[in-house]
Amino acid sequence: MSAQSVGQNTSFLGDQAAANSAAARIFAVVDRRPDIDSSQEGKGETLAKVEGRLEFRHVDFTYPSRPEAQIFHRFNLVVEAGTTVALVGASGSGKSTVVQLVERYYDPQRGTVCLDGKDVKDLNVRWLRQHIGLVSQEVKAIRRTSCPVPKSPALRMLSYPMS
Ligand SMILES: Nc1ncnc2c1ncn2[C@@H]1O[C@H](COP(=O)(O)OP(=O)(O)O)[C@@H](O)[C@H]1O
Ligand SMILES: [Mg+2]
Repeated sequence: MSAQSVGQNTSFLGDQAAANSAAARIFAVVDRRPDIDSSQEGKGETLAKVEGRLEFRHVDFTYPSRPEAQIFHRFNLVVEAGTTVALVGASGSGKSTVVQLVERYYDPQRGTVCLDGKDVKDLNVRWLRQHIGLVSQEVKAIRRTSCPVPKSPALRMLSYPMS
């Protein structure tokens, strides 16, 4: 009788070990502090006024999930404040990646992305994103309204395919 109950209890040991190991992996993900952290209110600077000058200086960039494909090699771009610039190119040429780097969804491996002369890495991530209005590939929205990008943000970006 007692041998049977010991056997029954120990049959769960393997499952318990697997559960412990799974829980440890989940907590590691929950505790991880990302390099680009939009949750920290007080981290990074804010600018009193945003003029809106954008500059990419000698940017090298590769998506972490695709290390074999370099997207930018010493890429330079200046968009003066208050001007409109169209990035035109074949699908996959890197237009949306420019937007991703301005919004800091990724950081370049080398070079800098600057807003009004300030490296975007030094700015508060949430504040930065609040000053950018992006409409992404919403062709219907573009056709229905004369100006689909909200007027208030300092930087207005529109991304849609030509057809
Ligand atoms: N999150 C991502 N992870 C890995 N590769 C990506 C990612 N986003 C885009 N890419 C790749 O980066 C290249 C540039 O993409 P993208 O900037 O979206 O081009 P475009 O906007 O000009 O069509 C493409 O080869 C695309 O497959
Ligand atoms: Mg795109």
